[in-house]
Amino acid sequence: MSITAVCVSADDAPDGGALYQVQEGNKVDESTLNGWRTWRALACERCHGAAQEGLVGPSLVESLKVLSKEDFHTVLMNGRPEKGMPPFNTSEMVNKNWEGLYAYLKGRSDGKIEPGRLSKIQ
Ligand code: HEC
Repeated sequence: MSITAVCVSADDAPDGGALYQVQEGNKVDESTLNGWRTWRALACERCHGAAQEGLVGPSLVESLKVLSKEDFHTVLMNGRPEKGMPPFNTSEMVNKNWEGLYAYLKGRSDGKIEPGRLSKIQ
């Protein structure tokens, strides 16, 4: 199997480096992989859909096109309880991996990371 080009996104990367790395649509760097694991563990798909397409919650494929990293962090931590988005600030996994989660969702929104199972770039 041949390795296709590594696609990177530098959007919002604080050090000018890549926000995430992806190969063949389903292999990602460790931080992004942990972001995806957090997505799965916290079952965000219950409300946002398995492919982030939106259910009772909005499509995050669309939201991440406009939401800044800072705003993402705020809504994730505080939630919008009155509108049905729970706060996740008590989750250790979210506190540890929120940047990877942001990177994962950016990759989904950019159309670079495929929905479904991911593994680590070797
Ligand atoms: C119980 C349902 C539910 C779960 C579980 C849930 N969300 Fe949400 N989420 C919502 C709803 C509803 C909104 C829309 C709130 C509003 O109208 O402002 C939302 C909004 C958001 C937004 C803001 C979107 C925007 O355009 O402003 C983000 C980002 C988000 N959710 C991420 C997540 C992540 C990541 C998880 C898992 C850690 C998660 N959500 C789990 C229901 C949920």
